[in-house]
Amino acid sequence: MGKVAYALDLSELAPMSESVQRAKRQPLFLELVRTIVSLHRVEERVEVTYKKGSQRRNLNRIRIASGILLFAVLNSILCLAQEKKLREPDVPYEPSPQNVVELMLKLANVHKGDVVYDLGCGDGRLVITAIKQFGATGVGIDIDPIRIEESVRNAHMAGVIDRATFRTEDLFEADIHNATVVTLFLWRSANLKLRPKLLRELKPGTRVVSYYWDMDDWAPDKRIEVDGNPIFIWTIPEIKAPKKEY
Ligand SMILES: C[S@@+](CC[C@H](N)C(=O)[O-])C[C@H]1O[C@@H](n2cnc3c(N)ncnc32)[C@H](O)[C@@H]1O
Repeated sequence: MGKVAYALDLSELAPMSESVQRAKRQPLFLELVRTIVSLHRVEERVEVTYKKGSQRRNLNRIRIASGILLFAVLNSILCLAQEKKLREPDVPYEPSPQNVVELMLKLANVHKGDVVYDLGCGDGRLVITAIKQFGATGVGIDIDPIRIEESVRNAHMAGVIDRATFRTEDLFEADIHNATVVTLFLWRSANLKLRPKLLRELKPGTRVVSYYWDMDDWAPDKRIEVDGNPIFIWTIPEIKAPKKEY
């Protein structure tokens, strides 16, 4: 019995929990096969112990335990599958250079009391810098859960996790109403699709900063250049004039 319990507790559980971790990144089918192989190895070990003359009841117990574990692992994998990307990102991941991040936040005059939303936050650098260097609080939204995991890890490492929130969401669906600053590094098509939502949902006076791409006929308050690339800033107006829909 002691030998069987050891095989279950120490040898098989660790690889299974690793497999749950890996499920976040690998195809579901592959992970399922790995899990079943892992459970089969438990049974093989038990068979060996049984053939050596230990109790039949232990074998049945282990089979039941294996069944419960299989159920638990499948359940975890299903949950993780639901956590996977909501859909493909509209814009691929490409981090803004750190000097651009700082200039975007400076241009928006970010200060203590601001709530900075980075829509498509990547590894969280805009939110983390806004908190650490400018005294704000921040919310990062990304459709890719891998990016959100990375952002949370980076915010922990930077010691700012208590003032940061990261959410796996589609930026076009996200609740952004309490932002005082919104930062963007998307594509022009995404900026234009987002524009009506910004004008509809953000409070007047909220600053919107975009690296690289403009907003068509919504003229920016200011445009600067960094290393030959533009950064634009707009302020949500008091009276929201109807704008062209895209
Ligand atoms: C060019 S990267 C910018 C990353 C970060 N803002 C920066 O400046 O370093 C664009 C990010 O937007 C995310 N993204 C694309 N489409 C999205 C959507 N519909 N909802 C939320 N995030 C999205 C991508 O996963 C990617 O991390």
